[in-house]
Amino acid sequence: MKIVVGNQKASLTKNEFEAFQITLKNRIRCDVEVVICPSMLYLSCYDRKSYYLGSQNVSPLKTNALTGEVTASQLKQLGTSYCLVGHTERRTTLNETDELIQEKIKRLLEQGITPILCVGENKEEHLLLKTGHILEKQIDKVCKSLTKEERRDLIIAYEPTWAIGTGMMPKKEDIKRSINIIKEIFMCKYEVEVRVLYGGSITQKNIKMLENIDEIDGYLIGGESLDANHFLAILNEMN
Ligand code: PGA
Repeated sequence: MKIVVGNQKASLTKNEFEAFQITLKNRIRCDVEVVICPSMLYLSCYDRKSYYLGSQNVSPLKTNALTGEVTASQLKQLGTSYCLVGHTERRTTLNETDELIQEKIKRLLEQGITPILCVGENKEEHLLLKTGHILEKQIDKVCKSLTKEERRDLIIAYEPTWAIGTGMMPKKEDIKRSINIIKEIFMCKYEVEVRVLYGGSITQKNIKMLENIDEIDGYLIGGESLDANHFLAILNEMN
């Protein structure tokens, strides 16, 4: 079953989020696993019957003595099934390191929450045909200290950073190639079969093209997950 993840970032007021949930109610197709990652503030308003709950962040530490953080066990208690890690906005703007990302993954797996690890090249790397190299580096840095069991539970989101929120997207062949590279790295180096999502400027208009790429196991949707009708329209365009 394909997984479709909505990453709402720090958007929507509480009323808007509640209206979003009401619009989704009973309208999500059941042959797709839908995950919504709302602002952390609204995690506890989660409507369990409609979708799976995802978090956008988790504390890297086990301790409760860390001001401003939310632990994996707190997320678990709210019913969280998935959590994004390594999103480019956190890597670049907040300087999140690979070590921090590794710790977050460990905390999540201890609680049985599936980490969705985001990887992807920037525009310059894309133009210089360095995508494969960058993807391998990002994956190796995080995966080398994980056990085979831990790696087996990861989901990867391939998000070229230049495609996020820009309306730009790599060519179909480039997406296919990158996803195959990620799957091959996991299979050949780490002996696990990994699921790979694509993310970056997905809309109702381009989802059909993406659906023609057999290797894609699902999607990570930012901007278009803020409007329930746009989000549903994307789901309905899927095969
Ligand atoms: P976008 O964002 O769909 O708005 O490009 C994707 C993301 O940031 O995960």
